[in-house]
Formats: sequence, structure tokens, C-alpha cells
Amino acid sequence: MTDHASRAPDTTTRPTRPTLSKLTDELGLLYGGDYNPEQWDRETWLEDARLMQAAGVNLVTVGVFSWALLEPRPGERSFGWLDEVLDLLHAHGIAVDLATPTASPPPWMGHLYPETLPVDRDGVRLTYGSRNQFSPSSEVYRGFARDITRDLVDRYVEHPAVRMWHVGNELGQVCHSDATALAFRTWLDERYGSLDGLNEAWGTTFWSQRYSRWEEVVPPRRAPYLINPTQELDFRSFTSDALRAVYREQRDIIRERDPRRPVTTNFMGFFPLVDYWSWAQDLDVVSDDAYPDPVDPTSLASAALTQDLMRSLGGGAPWLLMEQAVSAVNWRDHNVPKTPARMRLESLQAVAHGADGICFFQWRASRAGAERFHSAMLPHAGADTDVHRGVVGLGADLARLRPVVGGRSRATVAIAFDWSSWWAAEGEAGPTRRLRVVEEVRRWHRALWERGVAVDLVRPGDTLGEYDLVLAPNLYLLDEPDAANLRAFVAGGGTLVLGPFSDVATRDAHVRPGRFPVQLADLVGASGEEWLPLDDDGLDVVSDLWAGPDGVLPGIAHVDSYVERLRLDGGEGVDGSDGSHGTDGSGTPAEAVVVASSSAPAGLSGAPVVVRRRSGAGRAWYVGALLPDAALDAVLAEVLRESGTLSALGTPAARLGVEAVRRGDLLFLLNHTGSPVSVPVGSTPLTDLLTSAVHSGTAVVPPVDVLVLTERPS
Ligand code: GAL
Repeated sequence: MTDHASRAPDTTTRPTRPTLSKLTDELGLLYGGDYNPEQWDRETWLEDARLMQAAGVNLVTVGVFSWALLEPRPGERSFGWLDEVLDLLHAHGIAVDLATPTASPPPWMGHLYPETLPVDRDGVRLTYGSRNQFSPSSEVYRGFARDITRDLVDRYVEHPAVRMWHVGNELGQVCHSDATALAFRTWLDERYGSLDGLNEAWGTTFWSQRYSRWEEVVPPRRAPYLINPTQELDFRSFTSDALRAVYREQRDIIRERDPRRPVTTNFMGFFPLVDYWSWAQDLDVVSDDAYPDPVDPTSLASAALTQDLMRSLGGGAPWLLMEQAVSAVNWRDHNVPKTPARMRLESLQAVAHGADGICFFQWRASRAGAERFHSAMLPHAGADTDVHRGVVGLGADLARLRPVVGGRSRATVAIAFDWSSWWAAEGEAGPTRRLRVVEEVRRWHRALWERGVAVDLVRPGDTLGEYDLVLAPNLYLLDEPDAANLRAFVAGGGTLVLGPFSDVATRDAHVRPGRFPVQLADLVGASGEEWLPLDDDGLDVVSDLWAGPDGVLPGIAHVDSYVERLRLDGGEGVDGSDGSHGTDGSGTPAEAVVVASSSAPAGLSGAPVVVRRRSGAGRAWYVGALLPDAALDAVLAEVLRESGTLSALGTPAARLGVEAVRRGDLLFLLNHTGSPVSVPVGSTPLTDLLTSAVHSGTAVVPPVDVLVLTERPS
């Protein structure tokens, strides 16, 4: 059922949209960072431009925090310094991603117009002297933002240095002000059509919350006890839409004047306040900021997941790593630096997962202000440093990787992830706070990542026909059309694996009546009646899988926080050793098979915990517990085996010891460990684009190093 042709570039759907390729076809992989010349004198600008050139930098993001200089007093303009900077960069062959400076309004704005400042949930108005001090719903802020954007674009639209536009920075501000209340009401009116519709959706007969006038409806604010969960959920969506409107109105001003160059803004991975699926179509190029913690042993697996999300948000198109740290950040409690080797590894990992540009925050370390101790491409100690030599080295590596440009990856496996469902599942007052949705997505993704299996992220309602396997670690909210889509996927021969606490609630976060997973219980052949957060004794779960080929458990897995009271519906099927479990041989739906069951305590003894069932040509699994890592891994290993999923090496998916990723016709092997790892690569000689070394049979990947292998002779 895999149809790779359907992942060809989507030029049919977006014929006129500017893309990154105009830039990358000319410059190769993009390389650079945020450049804040307003902090430096002219001599330093000159030194910067020369050093950038020497390091292979070909793109810098300029002007992100320059509003107070560009507009020193309301309505005044001071562009002279920026003219000079852009001319200088252009003279040195460095392209510019020019930012609208709207992330940090000048102090005069908050001083003269306090209503532009955001108000928190407790009613406290946040102040200037930091950044991000704006309310997305303030028409005064938005008016000033539109004006400076218009003037900036008018001034530089013909400047040859400017090759891309960047709106604001990390849009993510929440506001609970009175102006926000007005905008929230308008949004709700559009959604529900009437106050009656809102009362119905919010279930306001509960606790006497019924609204009789729109003026009574407010954003969630500090209240004596729990807030209405649908009100919370709607406010999340509203906030995401309000920020998107801020982005779009600046984007539209740019587009009107410059339809040719791409417009972007920098995302923040699995950011909880913005539904990036809903935004993705608004960006010509998806960009992301990523700051994996070098002391977290799981951070590179998580980074790979985020990179897969970024690629998927853009429909598979190349994306940009817009910001990362060269070495240490300054905002954790204890900021352990990265080695240059680790910095290189992380950068090339992003390239492997679809990035066509690698940038940093920031070019030159700031001497003053809140980020003095954040690392930079040019540190306080200057160019004669290991950090800067690492930067120069990476520039050379990226130049060697020019053949990567535009390459796409192909996945037969997808992970379904939905922001609204995430928001609702972690809202207040549920069975447990220990189910962290993104953490679950990470754990499920990790099992694939370790086995070199390519993964896309999808929404449950997306077209799924190109995938063989869809994993849904948690879909607490599941709309009827989305459930029908998953059902059709299985009917079409796909395998669906559904995680715990899924298919519980409607889009309005009302609990669906019936045994769960309510709409899909018949698909998995089992259903649940009760969610069971566990006491300190936890629960033992037994399965043959725990001791399987990839299993590391002695037959018993200890679940310590959450399980569900499940039963098989319609009796148990037979687990055929040929993988024909749950089928009567005719391909018609059959009984479910228990894959794992509880061994204690009384009342749950022997109850199913993990089940699977064949349904037509497809299969459906249900995982009714937060399994410990090794047990979850064993389940997913079995799913991969059963579905015949291959690794990037073309072999049946099994742990590889390195990260293996295929992009276009290139094979990336990334060794995240401190020891060399040997990888079987077949007998055809493969050339490493980074070193020109030729490998065949076995390739040895040195510690904290990367091979980028091609069949094309060098
Ligand atoms: C990002 C931000 C940058 C800089 C960086 C430091 O979130 O966009 O401006 O503050 O963090 O890590």
C-alpha cells in the first residue's frame, strides 16, 4: 500500500508559493545565525563580515530585536544603520533573513500605551525591560507592528542582500486582558454561532455556569477552584489563532510587496501554546529553534522527533534549523557546554532529518544584556578558540554536503499527534497527571529511532494511505471524522497502534459514553470500563514479548503508574506463530489476541493490558497502560516485525547502535556514543561525502561522528 510517489514535492497544491530552493540552489546548505549588529560599532561589523565569510556563513537573521533603534520615538524612523549593515553583508556575499522587529516593542510603547502589555492569569500586567511584552489582541500593538513592518519592507524589498523574511520571534505570548476577552468572545461567536451553542459546548449547566450575555464570558482567569475544561481548551485554540493572526498580518504585508522571497517565523518544537499544524500552511519555510540539553541522555532522540515534526509540518519539504546553541545556553540552572564535536553531530542530525540550513543563536556573544553568558559562534574570547574553530569546521562540512540540498525522506511509519488532544489530555482534573502526552510520543518514537526507522508525524485526520503503520501514543480527543479515518486506514490494510487514554472525549472535551476506546473498541476487539491510576505497589504485567528477541525483561514488566481495566469483547483469538493471530484465515474480522496481561492484584488478575486484532487486511493494537520503557519497546519491536518495517539500511528494523537516516539517496550514520560502532552497509562501495573515504561491507562510525554515504563515486 505504500505509494512513495505521493510524497513528491507538492508543487501542485502550492504553485506560486516561494520556497527555500531558490536560495539553496544558489548557496547550498544555508549556514549562519542571528546577527545583532545594533550592539556593535562599525569596525566590529567589518570584522564580523570577514569572519563570517571565512567560516562559510552564507545567511544571517538580522533585526530581530531592533525595534527601539528603528523607531526611537512613536512614528520616527531610523534606518541608516541597517542600510549600512545590509550593504556590508551583501558586499561579503552573505544573504540576509530580515526580521520584522515586532517581538520586543520599545519601552515607549508600554509606557504610553499600557494596554499593549500582556496581562497574566492573575490579572498582573507584565512590564517592559525584558522582551515579548505585547498582547496579541492589542490593536494598538498590532497597528504599530503593521506600520514598522510596512516601512521596513518598503525600504528593503529591493535590497539584494535580503533573501528571506522572518516575522517576529518565537511567537508565543498569552494574554488574559479585557481586550483579549473581547477578541475571545468574537472567536467563540464564530465558532459556536450563538451563546446557546457556547453553553452547550462548555456544558455550563454544570456548577451553574450558564452565560446569559456575551459580556459575561471571559478568558480563564484566577478563580476559586477548577475552571471549565472546555473554556480552557477553547482559550488555548483562541490563543494559538490570535498569535497566528499577528503572524499573518505581518506576513501579508510582506507578501503584498514581495511575492518572491519566502517568509518564515521560528517555531519551538512541541511548543504547548501554539498548534503548529494549523500554522504550517502559513509559512513558506518551516523553521525551528532547538536547544537539546547536552547532559540529558535522551535529548538527541527527542531532537530527532522534533526534526521529524518540522519536516512533516512542511509536508516533507526542507526546513531550517533557525536557532541552536553553539555551546552552552544561559537559561538553565546549570549550563553544561557542548563540545564542538557534539555541536557538529547535532547540526548534521538536523540535516539528516530534512534541514537545508543550520543556524545558531547567535553570531557574536553579547557583552551586555540578559544573554551575556549564552554561547555564540564568535565567543567573548574571540576567533582563536575551539568553539569558533568548530564553527569554521562545520561551515566546511556543510559545503561538502551540497548534494543533500532538497533531498526528501520516505517513511512508511507515521506517529499521530494532535495539539488539541494534548491540551485536553493534560487539562486539570483527570485520572492522572502522570500521562504526559509529548513524553509518550517521545518514548514511542524512540523505539523507532533506535532501529533506524523513518517516521513522519501526522494528524489523525490526514491522508494515511502512504503509510503501512500508524502509531497513536495518545489521542484522548478523537473527533468522529478522525476515528473514521483511522478505521479506513486499517480497512485499507494498515496497522494502527493506539495508546492508553485514547478515544475518550469529543472535540469539546466531553466524555463519550460507553466503553473505551469508544469509537474504535470494535477495531481492537477489546474495551475498557475504568482508568486505573496505580498506588505505590504498581502492577505486574506478563507477556511472552518481554523476553523476545529484542526484549530485555524476564517475563514480567512492572507498571508503576497507570493501567486500564480492559476486557476482550467476543472472546479470545489464537496467536498463530505465522503472525496470523486473530484471523479465521478468511481475512474477515476475528477475535482479539491478548499480547500482555496483568498478573495481580485481585480484580485485574489476568485481565488484558495489550491486545491486537486482525481486521480485514489490517491490524489494530491497543496498549492499555503506561508501560515501562523496555516493555513498550518490546511491543513496538513486535509491531515493526509484524508489519515488515525496514530500517534505513534496508534490513528488518532492529537496534543498530547508531542513528541511521536516509535522505534522498544519501545514508546518514550518526554515532551518539563515545565508542566506534560498526554498521553493515552492504557490498556496494559507498563514499563518505564528508571525508571522501570509501566504505563497503562494514562502515565504522567513529565516536560522536557522522558518515554521509553515497553510491555516487566522489
Ligand atoms: C531563543 C530566542 C533567542 C535567544 C535564545 C537563547 O528562544 O529566540 O532570541 O534568546 O533563545 O537560547
